[in-house]
Amino acid sequence: MGDVVRIGRLQTCVPDAHTVMDALRGNEMHFAVLPLVHPRARREFANKTVRDEPFTRSDLTLSSHAWSTNVVGALSPWLNLDSPCARVRTDSEKALKQEVMWAQHISCPAVLTPIPAKKCPNFARALYSNLTGYTNTQFMVRIPLVWTDDPEASSDPWETWNDVRSVCEHHACLSVALELTSDLPDQDTVEQWGAEQVKMIIVPTSIFLTNASGFPVLSKRHQAILNVFFARNVDLVLSGRPRHQSDMLVYTQYLQHLYQNRPQLSDSEAFEQPYWDYLQIPLQPLADNLESQTYEVFERDPVKYVNYQEAVRLCLLDLMAQPGRKEERFVIMVVGAGRGPLVRASLQAAEQAGANVFCYALDKNPNAVVTLRNMRLTEGWVGKVEVVHSDMRAFHPDVLADILVSELLGSFGDNELSPECLDGAQSFLKPGTGVSIPQSYTSAMAPISSAKLHQEVKSYNDVKHFETTYVVKMHAHRVLSRPQDCWTFDHPNHETPIDNARYSVHRFPITRSSCLTGFAGYFDAKLYGDVHISIHPETFSTGMFSWFPLLIPIRTPIYLPAGCEVEAHIWRRVEDKKVWYEWVVTSPSVGPLNNLNGRSFSIGL
Ligand SMILES: C[S@@+](CC[C@H](N)C(=O)[O-])C[C@H]1O[C@@H](n2cnc3c(N)ncnc32)[C@H](O)[C@@H]1O
Repeated sequence: MGDVVRIGRLQTCVPDAHTVMDALRGNEMHFAVLPLVHPRARREFANKTVRDEPFTRSDLTLSSHAWSTNVVGALSPWLNLDSPCARVRTDSEKALKQEVMWAQHISCPAVLTPIPAKKCPNFARALYSNLTGYTNTQFMVRIPLVWTDDPEASSDPWETWNDVRSVCEHHACLSVALELTSDLPDQDTVEQWGAEQVKMIIVPTSIFLTNASGFPVLSKRHQAILNVFFARNVDLVLSGRPRHQSDMLVYTQYLQHLYQNRPQLSDSEAFEQPYWDYLQIPLQPLADNLESQTYEVFERDPVKYVNYQEAVRLCLLDLMAQPGRKEERFVIMVVGAGRGPLVRASLQAAEQAGANVFCYALDKNPNAVVTLRNMRLTEGWVGKVEVVHSDMRAFHPDVLADILVSELLGSFGDNELSPECLDGAQSFLKPGTGVSIPQSYTSAMAPISSAKLHQEVKSYNDVKHFETTYVVKMHAHRVLSRPQDCWTFDHPNHETPIDNARYSVHRFPITRSSCLTGFAGYFDAKLYGDVHISIHPETFSTGMFSWFPLLIPIRTPIYLPAGCEVEAHIWRRVEDKKVWYEWVVTSPSVGPLNNLNGRSFSIGL
């Protein structure tokens, strides 16, 4: 059906399943949410009288294909698992089990629960006991955006959801069917839902307004909420009777119209979209040799090379302004030159500055050196550029460099071992006047909540993957507090002896109750003077897409009450052959230390 959103119909009772299925087509809908059992068919399991009647319609009513692709099973609305009455609780629990078994039998891909009580430990426990038995069925918990029975309630429905999924230990098959309400919560609450596993949005017909032509429309705020979830691939479900015409078609057509007119992605968002919430293991350009395709992706960045060129230009102007140096031939060494874009940028910067320069293009990757040697011939670099195949830590040139240009940065700044490489290379930088571009870089981190990213890491089913950091274009997530700087590396490094181990402690204030699932890591690099490249959200280099943030996960999500502080500690640890990070959360509760001694992941020197 092309670029459309999947829309379903929530039926409260079903006299005839075939009629419902036929109406779906007429109303341009994709699926129906059908009661698994007639809503009034309350069952009393204590009553031992054996009855011959079936508790629900036959599975033969629809084909198995229809059950498995066009139907979500709704659990009975009368289930009251947290009733003060033991008999109601027991009947509800038995009925729940019976209905879930039935959903499994007819291959319903998902079941929808009724809205739970605000405090619902028994509902959560019963759900969990059923969840563990049926691995393929999605359990969607119906949660309203605000409590409609009690709009003034101080408790946020998110708290109920958070209680349920915490009891269920963040089970991968548990998700939310979020119900739009006429009254809406603040924007922050909507964004909080954006970080949750929302699989379905229930849109009641009662929240539609009527436009001048008599058609149903949604308020701007409701539209804005739908736009948040359109970008998260949810299904929509219409509930309630038609209030504008006799059928539902006007509603589906209107929702499709909103979907078609959702905000379009910018060029950089469109580039990033395939990577949304996709975990990538960080590159190790020192230990591994990058492939041609990887260089090609870097080289498409519209910002990085422009900023480097400007940094080299400003640096050359400053060197030329030093007494007696205007006519000097400056030596630029591009260390880690890859396929040459920083060599090209340096030569162009020299031309702009009117500077006389000679360049060295050095890389330890023998394949990149092939490209560099070819470029020397094809780009007119003979006499201007010397290509060197060497590890920069082992290079001993006859001349010293005025400028050492490098880009060895990872998403967390130092995590691709730029400090260790540049400490080795600074021996051939002119003492006193030699400049490193970048001059420094600072790592930063912020606490985040993302049910999706937690599930992605959890799906590996081992501790090792929770003790690994990932490069991720984070999408369905929320940053819970402003990022804080961890540490800085300056180049050249004049410390003796040089110690690249680091440790930082953070206290992040949390304004609203949330669920901590890990941290996002960023860097801001000062190339030269005021010229930076940054993925820190507050100083981000607009349009630059070479780096996505670093995900630093934690094993067990932590509930954060409003007003608390997240205290986190992070270490950069260094040994002869490897560098690694360790991290721990110590407040509001103390968690385990992650990646002790680099047991799960480290970066090879
Ligand atoms: C992130 S890439 C950057 C490539 C290129 N300068 C660019 O900006 O497109 C880093 C490059 O540094 C090289 N490299 C990393 N560590 C090195 C080392 N110790 N000595 C020499 N080259 C190194 C890698 O082979 C890789 O080509």
